[in-house]
Amino acid sequence: MNEKILIPRKDIQSKVNALALQIAVDYKNKDLVLVGVLNGAFIFLSDLARELFKNGVNPQLYFVGVSSYVNSTNSSKQPKLTSDMKGSIEGKDVLIVEDIIDAGHTVYFLLEHLQRKKPNSIKVCSLLSKRSRREKEIEIDYLGFEIENVWVEGYGMDTEGKFRGSPDILQRT
Ligand code: IMP
Ligand code: MG
Repeated sequence: MNEKILIPRKDIQSKVNALALQIAVDYKNKDLVLVGVLNGAFIFLSDLARELFKNGVNPQLYFVGVSSYVNSTNSSKQPKLTSDMKGSIEGKDVLIVEDIIDAGHTVYFLLEHLQRKKPNSIKVCSLLSKRSRREKEIEIDYLGFEIENVWVEGYGMDTEGKFRGSPDILQRT
């Protein structure tokens, strides 16, 4: 197996900046909470949060852990919560921050889970989407890039725990 660069770091950076600008406009004067999905979204969330801060948005940041994969390539249809977020989101405006939406089960599950905590609103922000793989219909309010059905790694995303540190998004070839 080899890797090639699918999305270079410069393109990721401009996209994150554009998403942050859009979110800053939409959430002006709102009580925003970013909920990052561990582990893959940690780098995207940290870049997004810093870019939001530059644009005058200072959201609360929380993480949830969801195990959605039984092995590295097959989606489990029953995602499980491995760690819940610590704070309250009641009455707040929640933005789920994901690395990639594949079949859609993880985000579908999280939307239901977080809805029970009575937020004022919940929206979805994902850096990547593989629309052709979707099994659950998910409305992605803020999307970075739509990609083909290929396995990607880097910028937080892994293959068996590795490659998360790559600043570029890589494609397995
Ligand atoms: P879904 O429940 O099928 O939408 O799965 C979404 C999760 O699967 C993402 O949060 C990723 O952690 C993981 N995932 C899906 N596709 C890839 C990929 O190409 N590379 C790395 N992780 C992936
Ligand atoms: Mg993920």
